[in-house]
Amino acid sequence: MMNGISGVGHVGIAVTNIEKSLEFYRDVVGLKLTGLWGKPYRKNRQCFVRIDNMHHNIVFFEIDETVDRAGLDTTDTAKRQKPGLHHIAFEFPEREDWLLALESVKAKGIPFVSGPYVHGHEADYYEADDNGMGFVGGSGSHAFYICDPDGNRLEFYCWMMKVTQKSIAAPNPDL
Ligand SMILES: [Fe+2]
Repeated sequence: MMNGISGVGHVGIAVTNIEKSLEFYRDVVGLKLTGLWGKPYRKNRQCFVRIDNMHHNIVFFEIDETVDRAGLDTTDTAKRQKPGLHHIAFEFPEREDWLLALESVKAKGIPFVSGPYVHGHEADYYEADDNGMGFVGGSGSHAFYICDPDGNRLEFYCWMMKVTQKSIAAPNPDL
């Protein structure tokens, strides 16, 4: 086992079009470009983008130009029913920032693929299960979801609970 990991530092994703991905992650998500590399350093183009000042949090790997991209699956990753990425989640420590993000996505006309809602026992309407209750295992976070140009599902959330003891939302916690 490993100790001392502080979080997920970055995610690498294969993309069909680096310009489209870069435009989306810059304009919609607000990430910053660190650099775009291709020949002579790399056979296929790679693009590094970041949230703040770490060199990168997401890396785009452009699919080889010899591959026919027209037939690639760009449906919502959460609906593909294939092994691999399901979603990437961006955390907002402040709810005010999360609300502004929500409004900016609406203003840009980007469709939500899920949410916004509360993931939790306290949500008796949103994301209700068959009993009309919010998901008891939910973390209490407030979340909404959109897809990037390749269908990768992105989550934006705030207020995820901490686990310090057993509860209905954390029934089997390693403490
Ligand atoms: Fe999530």
